[in-house]
Amino acid sequence: MCGIIGINSNKPVSATIINSLKKLEYRGYDSAGIATLSSGLINEIKSEGRVDNLEKNSLVQNMEGTIGIGHVRWATHGSPNSINAHPHSSQNVSVVHNGIIENSTLLKKFLVSKGHKFKSQTDTEVIVHLITENLKTENIVSSIKKTLKSLHGSFALGIIFKDQPDLIVGARRGSPLAVGYGPNENYLGSDSYALKSMTNKITYLNDGEFCVIKKDQVEFFNEEGIKINKKVLEVSSEEKKYEKGDYKHFMAKEIEEQPTTLKNGINEYLDNSNNNINIYNFPWKTKDISSITLVGCGTAYHSCLMAKYWFEEITTMDVNVDIASEFRYRKNRFKKETLYIFVSQSGETADTYAALDLCKKNGMKTCAVVNVVESSIARESEFVLPIHCGTEIGVASTKAFLGQILILYIFSLKLGLLRNDLKKDVFIQKLKDLKELPKLVKQTLLTDNKIQTITKTFNEAKGSMFLGRGFSYPIALEGALKLKELSYVHAEGYPAGEMKHGPLALIEEGMPVVVLAPRDNHYKKTISNMQEVIARGAKVLLITNKSKDEIVSENIWETIEVESTNEDLLPFLLTIPLQKLAYYSALKKGFDIDKPRNLAKSVTVE
Ligand code: AGP
Repeated sequence: MCGIIGINSNKPVSATIINSLKKLEYRGYDSAGIATLSSGLINEIKSEGRVDNLEKNSLVQNMEGTIGIGHVRWATHGSPNSINAHPHSSQNVSVVHNGIIENSTLLKKFLVSKGHKFKSQTDTEVIVHLITENLKTENIVSSIKKTLKSLHGSFALGIIFKDQPDLIVGARRGSPLAVGYGPNENYLGSDSYALKSMTNKITYLNDGEFCVIKKDQVEFFNEEGIKINKKVLEVSSEEKKYEKGDYKHFMAKEIEEQPTTLKNGINEYLDNSNNNINIYNFPWKTKDISSITLVGCGTAYHSCLMAKYWFEEITTMDVNVDIASEFRYRKNRFKKETLYIFVSQSGETADTYAALDLCKKNGMKTCAVVNVVESSIARESEFVLPIHCGTEIGVASTKAFLGQILILYIFSLKLGLLRNDLKKDVFIQKLKDLKELPKLVKQTLLTDNKIQTITKTFNEAKGSMFLGRGFSYPIALEGALKLKELSYVHAEGYPAGEMKHGPLALIEEGMPVVVLAPRDNHYKKTISNMQEVIARGAKVLLITNKSKDEIVSENIWETIEVESTNEDLLPFLLTIPLQKLAYYSALKKGFDIDKPRNLAKSVTVE
């Protein structure tokens, strides 16, 4: 998954391309590159690592050309070095690509037999040579049409041509792509966010479409190469600057912001004067929905799992959860009375988008829980529940996770009430408790010093485990994911009751184990499971909530007590020390917290 940008202007474009690439870095930061046309030649400059590296290159600073393309890469084929960085160019054509060409090996064989020479290990380079080959006999539009037909897999492409000083081609299948319109210049970009500093007039390409972007005109074509008309949309021109401020990392800021982002979410959905929840324009009758399927990836999947526990507790609906990359390839029994909910911070995750697309093609009811409201998943879903937590920059999701589970919790309460599964007085009490949540999160955020001192043990251990039951199980999974993605140490989340069926064999003297045991229905059982790991030598970090009852257990290594509230809301509070544990572990190791190795903020390939 990568980010692409293209600008056709009458002014030099390299500085603007670099600025836009910085905005696209959330899609990949292995390497970056730019190509412009000047004096009838394609100039290509690429570098390993961040866009900053590319920008520092003196050749980029003096780069000429009023038409160009740029790219940030997350490596799929070929290691993340400057040779495999995009753009890839022949003498005549230069290409940036987001996606994966699945038949690249076969195509390469064919092209090599025709005399084409390859420089990189990427799948993308076959596109360059295919276009070059097709241009020998076809004009631009038909060579593009022919090339796209030969490609299997997914792509968003930006293409410039040595002999076409006023033309960028954009094409899309699977990966998102937008066109932007400016005064005497037009743009191509992976998303509207990258284009926002230049324009708020956007057209999104649909699958199979391609476009020809000139300075003063944009033409769109369907996959048969037939011209089509597309709507120009006005997206919000508000371009909020989101800075780190005094924080060392965006992640630290995003963790600390959670009381505010939760408050914003609560204010958006709660109707204080009527003790109710406002969900406007819900397109279906609640009697037509008897089950829910939630789909997401990574942290968003953990939000789905969390929601399953709440929906099952609060409503009488059947609830299923699925990892998007599995859902999209299984033989699902689609049911008219099921509401399919797609959870995604970015709204661009390729697997989640494909799962949504599958549901739409089967005529299902689709709802998105997203942070980015202009994203592909939001645009394609019938109904959207935004999480209102503002830009999240840290690759490790924190405030978006709490934002997602907040909105899913609110939604479960609303459906519970509408279906008469939840009594009005219970509903009102739950709303009352919910309003207190931001304050409790703020207090829980104060537990800091203890976490900093215990990170050493987690960093030095071979691995660690995170255990929980019931509402705490999805949080255990999330805690383990945070630690591994930031600190690069092995960490596994498990249902505490499952340990004896195998994973207990991993426990050895000194192994750190986080046990989430809030004083809920599962407390006693979880404490027993905790004893089982302590007996085998584990160093247990117990995370529970404050209570007047003493903890009846011995040999606990460390205990952290979060604030107390009703059982439903404890998962929010339990998450906080786990986020901090991951943060401080990575900080101690000196790792790049906001951009961990091998990852990207938005995963736009499958
Ligand atoms: C979270 O810390 C991860 N970086 C990752 O699991 C993420 O949640 C996942 O890729 C899904 O992203 P999305 O919410 O943008 O769809």
